[in-house]
Amino acid sequence: MLKTIEWAKGGVRVLDQTQLPFKVSYVTCKDYKQTAEAIRKMKIRGAPAIGVAAAFGMAQAASKSKAGKYEQLSKEVDKAAALLRSTRPTAVNLAWGLQRMRRALESYRDRRIPKLKELMVEEALRIQKEDIQVNESIGSLGAELLRDGDRVLTHCNTGALATAGHGTALGVVKSAVKSGKKLKVWVDETRPYLQGARLTTVELKEARIPHTLITDSTAAALMARREVDVVVVGADRITALGDVANKIGTYGLAVLAFEHRIPFYVAAPVSTIDLQLEKGEDIPIEERPADEVLNIQGRPIAPKGTKALHWAFDVTPHRFISAIVTELGVVRAPYREGLRDLAEKRSNSFL
Ligand code: MRU
Repeated sequence: MLKTIEWAKGGVRVLDQTQLPFKVSYVTCKDYKQTAEAIRKMKIRGAPAIGVAAAFGMAQAASKSKAGKYEQLSKEVDKAAALLRSTRPTAVNLAWGLQRMRRALESYRDRRIPKLKELMVEEALRIQKEDIQVNESIGSLGAELLRDGDRVLTHCNTGALATAGHGTALGVVKSAVKSGKKLKVWVDETRPYLQGARLTTVELKEARIPHTLITDSTAAALMARREVDVVVVGADRITALGDVANKIGTYGLAVLAFEHRIPFYVAAPVSTIDLQLEKGEDIPIEERPADEVLNIQGRPIAPKGTKALHWAFDVTPHRFISAIVTELGVVRAPYREGLRDLAEKRSNSFL
């Protein structure tokens, strides 16, 4: 399988996902500014993957610094963190990756500078490695919720390409198939970036899982015809109440699933839980350039001068969610206590 991101000799090597599926090309980000740009331009995307990319950016800032003293190095790393944080505001995994790197830096403050730089790179690589393990756990817990023969609908891309490996919602599908369940997947194309059409299909093809691509607006009709048994999606941020920000269109799917009494599951690592925010309305929603809606693969699809609104994410209120699957357990309503326990468990495991 294609590797999303790697720490390489000349810099951070990123698979350019804007070119898929037609071209497999890699870009090497030589410093943290280029890594930030790769995130902003969505060469690398998906909440957990950009968390890893941000951590790599911090490691680059530290290892490229010419500072002779901790205080100076720390200042430079903070400057890098501010730029990396500004790239994509909704996915909290990005801020989580930055915070973890910042804490690591503090804990190494008494080390000699060359050693400290090495330790920062090691921490970033640890974050990447852990993400794969986390996703495999999400996969096996989530797989139990799917039944043999299920027709699963998914949105956006939540697979290996959106993470360090395996994936979250798509990881659940992969794990269920690996455990012997026969599934069919409805893949939402996911306008306007087409992560479903361009990326999820590639992963499902590679995993030999039967799938059919649909336009986003087909989901309602499919549900009405009883052709969908379960919906599984990822998340970019989960609030204390259990409200979930995810790719634009997710909210509509959740309301539809509720109306048709179809289970609606969210699969995400505990690092996606943001207990600082109470409810969905508090989540910052990224607005991307209108051009991305007005053009498909560089070709205009509307008259010159047409306005377009491009929110990259929407918020699904917790009442539409049947369960949230994390690496440390499956939480059902009422979410507040369960999510708090999981976040606590996770932070204890890093003490
Ligand atoms: O804009 P993207 O492609 O970064 O959006 C990705 C999603 O919305 C995913 O569902 C989410 O990040 C979870 S990925 C495991």
